[in-house]
Amino acid sequence: MDVKEAIEKRRAYRSLIPVEITKDLIYDLAECAQITASCFNNQPWRYIFIYDKKMLKKMNEALSSGNEWAYKASMIIVVLGKKEDDCVIHDRIYYRFDIGMATSAMILRATELGLVAHPIAGYSPRKTRENLGIPDDIDVIALVIVGKQSDKIDKVLTEKQVEAEKERPKRKDIDEFVYMNRYIEKK
Ligand SMILES: Cc1cc2nc3c(=O)[nH]c(=O)nc-3n(C[C@H](O)[C@H](O)[C@H](O)COP(=O)(O)O)c2cc1C
Repeated sequence: MDVKEAIEKRRAYRSLIPVEITKDLIYDLAECAQITASCFNNQPWRYIFIYDKKMLKKMNEALSSGNEWAYKASMIIVVLGKKEDDCVIHDRIYYRFDIGMATSAMILRATELGLVAHPIAGYSPRKTRENLGIPDDIDVIALVIVGKQSDKIDKVLTEKQVEAEKERPKRKDIDEFVYMNRYIEKK
């Protein structure tokens, strides 16, 4: 699969079936983060790969309403980071940018391997911290829900979520966010 194909194939699917999680898979994904660019090569990313069944079940209580589909996760990747671990240049704070790039690389690799890797913001950082022993000075930036796409729509999905399984949610037109040569206020 080439890069463009992986970008096009990646979808935030919510109807999941189990997939076997091996240490090889975890290291394969982690390697993609490892070689990602970062400001001053600071490599601010930290990930917890949760695949133990009991720990996954415990994480259900941290998921927000509307994310019940994620109870079927075979793995949850907890994306962590600290502002102090990366460049801060006046008001420019880079850790979330670099961690986003690394996480995107992992998501695309997971896509290439035929997996769903769906990032979510709908969780309780407090419960996630409690469950996993994450100290308060480390941000819980996102969770990535990993599984395999089911060919059957999960019954817990809302109408809108069912639509999103069938068709990629609508995007802005390119001209709404692309500027040529200079910034011009768009109406
Ligand atoms: C930072 C972030 C947070 C998200 N949070 C959730 C979430 O809590 N629940 C959910 O079902 N999807 C979540 N999504 C998935 C988006 O809804 C999805 O990417 C978007 O609708 C576009 O669909 P597509 O990724 O299939 O193209 C999140 C995505 C990102 C990048």
